Amino acid sequence: MTRGELDGLAVLVTGAASGIGRATVDLLASRGASVVALDPQLEHDPGTGPVIAVRGDAASEADVGQSVGAALDRWGHLDAVVCGAGVGTFGTVLEAEDVWHETLRGNLESARVTVRGAMPELIRARGAIVIVSSLAGTVAVPGSVAYTTSKHALIGLTRSLAADFGALGVRANVVCPGAVRTPMLDRVMDEIGGKVGLDRSCAYERAAALTPLRRAAEPAEIAEIIAFLASPRSSIITGAVLMADGGVSAVDLSLSGLTMQLPDPGPRL
Ligand code: NAI
Repeated sequence: MTRGELDGLAVLVTGAASGIGRATVDLLASRGASVVALDPQLEHDPGTGPVIAVRGDAASEADVGQSVGAALDRWGHLDAVVCGAGVGTFGTVLEAEDVWHETLRGNLESARVTVRGAMPELIRARGAIVIVSSLAGTVAVPGSVAYTTSKHALIGLTRSLAADFGALGVRANVVCPGAVRTPMLDRVMDEIGGKVGLDRSCAYERAAALTPLRRAAEPAEIAEIIAFLASPRSSIITGAVLMADGGVSAVDLSLSGLTMQLPDPGPRL
């Protein structure tokens, strides 16, 4: 995509203050899109440029309504929503119930409420929905039942949206990142790495050891995919589950306990 390619596109991005959401706002705006950024960590800022910031909760009908209203007041239309709001939590099914409810609210309910609030405008615009799930939407993260469940459900939500609104011209797709270097994963790397004596960058490196590309993604790499799916360039794609995980989901890791001892193949030319 090139500069100015998204001129005229108005997009609502949730989870916009940090990580993937923030990178998405920056990328969309740099390509010419107009963006409403919704996040509890933002200060209200109507701005004068292409970005309006709304401090709020994507799981609140009122806050989503305010965000959609801000787009309509300024640009007269809303063409896409990006549901990037999310919380990372740990715990098995035997552990604290408040984590379960908080996670389902932050990850799943936020997407449902955002999409519902924006849908009349998306139908008018024959627009696009991009939902951020996770590799954890297709396989379980050990010790993280609420996160895993919420991310699996987002894939069901996306497919249902694609099935139910495709005839009206609305597309819905879901991106499943693997590890991405954001504040959310930094905290995980610090905590788990700390337990085994690794600093953050060594923890990232070790975590990616079995990933074909051998590294975590940068937020801008995920933003690039989101921007594509939010734009008319992906006009025939709906209901797609796009893995953006450095290839890890493509590999059979059932022998990995043994094969991880082998050296990398190296150049064979
Ligand atoms: P992050 O913690 O850097 O950013 C998440 C943002 O979402 C924060 O600004 C937070 O305030 C906001 N947020 C949380 N609840 C919200 C709500 N109810 N309404 C509006 N905003 C809310 O995290 P990151 O890593 O950028 O995550 C973004 C999305 O990507 C999440 O859905 C996460 O599950 C997903 N993801 C992240 C991966 C990673 O490795 N970082 C991997 C796979 C998926």
